[in-house]
Amino acid sequence: MVCPSDPKRKALSPLGRRIVIYTVVFSSVVTLIISILQLVNEFTQRESMVRAQLDSVDVLLPSIAESVWTFNESQISLALQALTSMPNMEKATITTAEGRIWSRGRETSTHTIARTFTLERQTSRGREALGTLDLLAGTDAVYLAVLTLTAEILFGNAIKTLMVAGFMGWLIHRLVISRLPPLKREVEALLDGLDPPIGGGPAETAANRPSGDEIDILRGSFACMAARLNDALGTMRKAKDELHQANQALDSRVRDKTAQLEESKKVAEEAAEAALRAMGEQRNFLSMVSHEFRGPLSTITGAAQLIAIYGGGHSELADEVAKIHRALGRMSNLINEYLNEERLDSAASPLDAARFDLGGMVEDACASGLFSTNDRPLDVSTEPGVFVFGDSALMSIAVSNIADNALKFSPADSPVTVTLRRRDGFAAVTVRDHGPGIPPDEQERIFEKYYRSIRTDRVCGVGLGLYLVKRIVDLHGGTIAIDSPPSGGTAFTVSLPLA
Ligand SMILES: Nc1ncnc2c1ncn2[C@@H]1O[C@H](COP(=O)(O)OP(=O)(O)OP(=O)(O)O)[C@@H](O)[C@H]1O
Ligand SMILES: [Mg+2]
Repeated sequence: MVCPSDPKRKALSPLGRRIVIYTVVFSSVVTLIISILQLVNEFTQRESMVRAQLDSVDVLLPSIAESVWTFNESQISLALQALTSMPNMEKATITTAEGRIWSRGRETSTHTIARTFTLERQTSRGREALGTLDLLAGTDAVYLAVLTLTAEILFGNAIKTLMVAGFMGWLIHRLVISRLPPLKREVEALLDGLDPPIGGGPAETAANRPSGDEIDILRGSFACMAARLNDALGTMRKAKDELHQANQALDSRVRDKTAQLEESKKVAEEAAEAALRAMGEQRNFLSMVSHEFRGPLSTITGAAQLIAIYGGGHSELADEVAKIHRALGRMSNLINEYLNEERLDSAASPLDAARFDLGGMVEDACASGLFSTNDRPLDVSTEPGVFVFGDSALMSIAVSNIADNALKFSPADSPVTVTLRRRDGFAAVTVRDHGPGIPPDEQERIFEKYYRSIRTDRVCGVGLGLYLVKRIVDLHGGTIAIDSPPSGGTAFTVSLPLA
């Protein structure tokens, strides 16, 4: 789109030149009309003065008539001299009824006013005509004076008009024209952000007009902008319509998809409910089976102990009995963990709580011998009379699990110690081993369900033990801490409030 361009810079811009010319013409015409009126008025006044002067001769008529009646030549001559010496008066002539003529002066002007007076005398028969007095006044001086005045007025008004026009031009240039180019530039800056209209537009016609001044250029810019805005609006409307249609299509697709999703959700919910029901039934069944395992297990444990006692110190038999014990311990742990996880998960208040002797409980748990490995005894040391409030069976499982880990994950020839101490109003059970230790980044994770470190995955286990320990300790309002220095070895400390 070709937009209006600035006209070449001249001393006076096209608009300024036009304003000056219009002002000069208008002012000249007005001044001329006023001047003509003024001059006509002036001429009429001056001519009236000459006529009044002629009329004023009226008062001299009786004495002139007397001089004519008496034929007093010297008096007549004096009267004529007095008359011709009056301003503008050029010629005076007395003519008697008998035809005698006295005249003075001569006609010099091209424009004159003539006046004739009758000379009369009063007789007993009435008024008697003696002759006439003819006067001739010149008005060339009046014309000359008016002409001079005309020249003065025209010259003065021309200067005044030029000054006013110049001042007007300067004033309008300063107040209006000088502000137009910045305005045009701003419009053009706006135009730059708009696409050109299809097929040019009216702006180009105005812009390219050779006689166009600043206003034409600016008008062209505005027309150009209007055309582009119009196009932009048209494009926007089109885009809006398309967007509206797309929205409607999208809405309908979203509605279809939502209905499909609702349907799928319903099916999934029904499937999940069915799965939950099936899982519940399965868990109930497993709980029942696990529970029923406990009786036979204790029978087998008792029988294995009897075999060991009455085996007569047969070494092979003793090894086999030890294997049976380890297998029983492992099985018993698994069943306990499963049953207790079930219990912790399902019961609203799983604690069978009472005040109990923690030292006794720790010693019983460590002496039970139902650990994954029975390759060495635990080194147990408990402070007497340490009582806590809680579920002793659950706490026993917690301590057994920690002790089991210590035995499992440390070398067979290293000691495992279990201590119970009072510490700042708490009972602290610490199980310490000399195994590989637990790196800091795993110390949080080992309490997660089924988490097992890859460093120890050769040792059997399912990753439930510490998860249960943490839950049991939390239920008792206690804490569990790990101390595992880089040099190796691990100490788990369970702290419970004293009762
Ligand atoms: N004393 C320990 N020394 C080194 N690693 C340990 C010790 N105790 C626990 N761990 C690490 O923590 C993991 C989780 O222990 P957790 O008792 O939960 O599971 P598990 O003993 O492997 O299996 P489960 O106890 O169910 O038979 C273990 O696999 C082991 O990697
Ligand atoms: Mg364990």
